[in-house]
Amino acid sequence: MLFFLDTADIKEIERLNSFGIIDGVTTNPSIIAKSGLDFKDTIAHICSVVKGPVSAEVISDEYDEMIKEAKELCSIAKNVCVKLPTTMDGIKACKYLSDNGVMTNLTLCFSANQALLVAKAGATFVSPFIGRWDDISFNGLELIAAIKEIYLNYGFTTKILAASVRHAVHVLECARIGADVATMPPALIEKLIQHPLTDKGLEIFKNDWKGQK
Ligand code: E4P
Repeated sequence: MLFFLDTADIKEIERLNSFGIIDGVTTNPSIIAKSGLDFKDTIAHICSVVKGPVSAEVISDEYDEMIKEAKELCSIAKNVCVKLPTTMDGIKACKYLSDNGVMTNLTLCFSANQALLVAKAGATFVSPFIGRWDDISFNGLELIAAIKEIYLNYGFTTKILAASVRHAVHVLECARIGADVATMPPALIEKLIQHPLTDKGLEIFKNDWKGQK
């Protein structure tokens, strides 16, 4: 399972990348706006730190403009992954870019039928937003399971990138279902390692060692 960081916070990206467990980064217009930094400079900086795919999203709703934006984004760095909306224009842009060797991530996916079209268009990644699905009383994990089943039925190679991941159980269940990637806020990555019995056990070992002759 690949771990992506869902942030544009360069310091956090550099810090967590140094542990050797980060495979990529995802951003979206809200994340970039919150950072207050220049979009292209930020993507270039992230791409220089993390060697895996770095998702940068187009703003346009319309095919021709999406392709224009995608070309500009691809000129920033080789590991830019163009993030496109899951709409008919997004699907058309995905097909064109995939056929031309560009990595794509189809975002704001909320149904298995959308994920089916995304795979047919040759996307590198599909991003089902599980937390936002949970927010309106649906089960985001069931969406991941349905997409996984469909992709296995037909041998689609599009990777399932669980997005809008909010807590450790999301990560655990995505891993059990077989999601290819989970993108997470930096704080969540560190929550995955925390266990009170690990802390207690270490304390016991240290105290016992002090008494050793
Ligand atoms: C990642 O690609 C998504 O943009 C992100 O996970 C959305 O998360 P949110 O629902 O917490 O905004």
